[in-house]
Amino acid sequence: MSSMSKPNLNNPPWASAPRVALARIPTPIESCKYQWGPYQLLIKRDDLTDCPISGNKIRKLEYLVGDALAQNCDTLITCGGVQSNHARATAIVARRMGLGCVLVLSGETPDVLDGNLLLSKMSGAEVRIYPDANGDQRAERMHRVADELREQGRRPYVITSGGSDEVGVLGYINAAAEIAEQLLEDRTRVSAIVVAVGSGGTYAGLLIGAKLCAMDVKIIGATVDGTPESWRPKLREYIDRSVNRWQLNVQVGDDDIDLIPAAGRGYALSSGDELKFITGFAGTTGVYLDPVYTGKTLFAFDRAVKDGSVKLDGDALFVHTGGVFGLFPQRERLNQFISQL
Ligand SMILES: Cc1ncc(COP(=O)(O)O)c(C=O)c1O
Repeated sequence: MSSMSKPNLNNPPWASAPRVALARIPTPIESCKYQWGPYQLLIKRDDLTDCPISGNKIRKLEYLVGDALAQNCDTLITCGGVQSNHARATAIVARRMGLGCVLVLSGETPDVLDGNLLLSKMSGAEVRIYPDANGDQRAERMHRVADELREQGRRPYVITSGGSDEVGVLGYINAAAEIAEQLLEDRTRVSAIVVAVGSGGTYAGLLIGAKLCAMDVKIIGATVDGTPESWRPKLREYIDRSVNRWQLNVQVGDDDIDLIPAAGRGYALSSGDELKFITGFAGTTGVYLDPVYTGKTLFAFDRAVKDGSVKLDGDALFVHTGGVFGLFPQRERLNQFISQL
């Protein structure tokens, strides 16, 4: 159940962290036509933080770009898969702020640009695609690009994968305070908040923020890449690093890190059941989930509630982190489900 104590983040330790206002926030919390017994599914509509920059990344970018500008940088460099939402959001933010942008992406170069990659290219970002690069290799390549740019007299700022570092985390610590305030105002009884874990920053920020606001609610992360076991130590380390960096007076215990498996066939690989769920969810609620993060998360959470591995004693709040452009590259498989309806 959400605590009724008022969140107290009026003058937080990170108040002086440079920030640029980019996101259309606060985003609403809406109810939808989906429930489990007496408990409703509520949705925190972070898919509405903007149109082309929509999703969770913009909240992190407010602080990351603030930091880049404070360091007088003129070019953002980041990385991800070819359909990375984070890369797309960074590219468009860079354009809006008059900064250069280089994206280091991995995966196959498509014959026809689509989804996030199409939007990134339209923003004028320089896109370098490396077919087989893994996470570490992408990080190394970003630093090589940064060296190259420095040699040309430019001032690059490297943003870690997914924007999940101690600066980016601030966006979701604030979002937790925003949620606490909204639940208090609406007098809504929420027992669990659920969100995708992709690079970890959204989950870590929400958990730290919920603790800072003394919210009596489980923060459940759905691991859409890897497993809960592989994520637990990484999140522990990331949370500790963030708490230390901002000198936060907060205790986050190991038991607070509450994770459910959601990768299914693997990162960005959709099962027929997941795509059917996404299609059905749009058909019942009018809310669109993406195949890589939000669709897998809600599909896994729904199963966990139904099989009893997650127990609710109040409504559940799903943080919709965006990603709608990821539906389009899946159009052929989605067409099959739609034609079967
Ligand atoms: C649409 C969407 N939802 C959720 C996530 C996961 O957020 P995080 O990377 O902060 O774990 C991402 C990115 O990884 C994303 O693009």
